[in-house]
Amino acid sequence: MSNPKFETDGFACRVVDMKKEYVLKSETVRALRGVSFDVPEGDYVAIMGPSGSGKSTLLNMLGCLDKPTSGSLWLGSDDVATMNDDQLADIRSQRIGFVFQSYNLIQQLTVVENIQVPLFYQGKSLSKAQQLRSIELARMVGLAERLDHRPTQLSGGQQQRVAIARSLVNDPFFILADEPTGNLDSRTTEEILQLFEKLNNEGRTIILVTHEDEVSKRAKRVVRLKDGRLQWDRQNSQEVREAAAKYAIDNMPVEV
Ligand SMILES: Nc1ncnc2c1ncn2[C@@H]1O[C@H](COP(=O)(O)OP(=O)(O)OP(=O)(O)O)[C@@H](O)[C@H]1O
Ligand SMILES: [Mg+2]
Repeated sequence: MSNPKFETDGFACRVVDMKKEYVLKSETVRALRGVSFDVPEGDYVAIMGPSGSGKSTLLNMLGCLDKPTSGSLWLGSDDVATMNDDQLADIRSQRIGFVFQSYNLIQQLTVVENIQVPLFYQGKSLSKAQQLRSIELARMVGLAERLDHRPTQLSGGQQQRVAIARSLVNDPFFILADEPTGNLDSRTTEEILQLFEKLNNEGRTIILVTHEDEVSKRAKRVVRLKDGRLQWDRQNSQEVREAAAKYAIDNMPVEV
């Protein structure tokens, strides 16, 4: 989505020889060993790879939740690899929507309040327009009837939909999702994938981590990591994407 706040050059991000090492007492874990790739604005990328291959580490760097040990990470025209923690927090709150496998909702807050959480990190009180927008987002993800529910009163899929609405409240430059369907049944997975497709069709850039082939086939592109390196990077044809969507719908369990 073209965002007037940022210079983008047509790319949501560019990763250049990015490395991440975790230094522990007895050893150094080389989680990313030099990863490079570009993500054009409007792309929809699935990151795959075995457990421990560096997927979450990569996503956390892209989401400015952590800093690379070396290399460059361009978000729009800014190299965020050199920024300090305050600058990263600003970028996070203004440009990035994050969806976690475990939803990470605040149990004491209602649906609408959870959706508003990223706005509070911007340090201002909510405008009327922002309040209306959070209600509109709840409606968009199908939760108009659940505005005052708390997370424990929602199904897993509904909680993930709150998390997706929350990821959109700051009108993010791109959406990052770490196994967003990992805890969901096939029907709810399909709902969430359709929601991502809609957001991507509207022009939002999406990068998600998944272990599931059926999920990765729905993206425009699949990047596979192995041992902290990029193993391959492929486009999914329109036929593959459509066939995967059709397969999911044809094999949906019958509701009882
Ligand atoms: N905070 C940390 N401190 C030390 N080592 C870490 C840390 N986070 C991740 N690692 C290590 O870095 C490597 C990559 O981890 P990462 O979480 O990125 O893998 P992943 O591909 O997301 O795996 P999974 O599919 O199991 O979620 C692993 O060997 C992991 O043990
Ligand atoms: Mg992970």
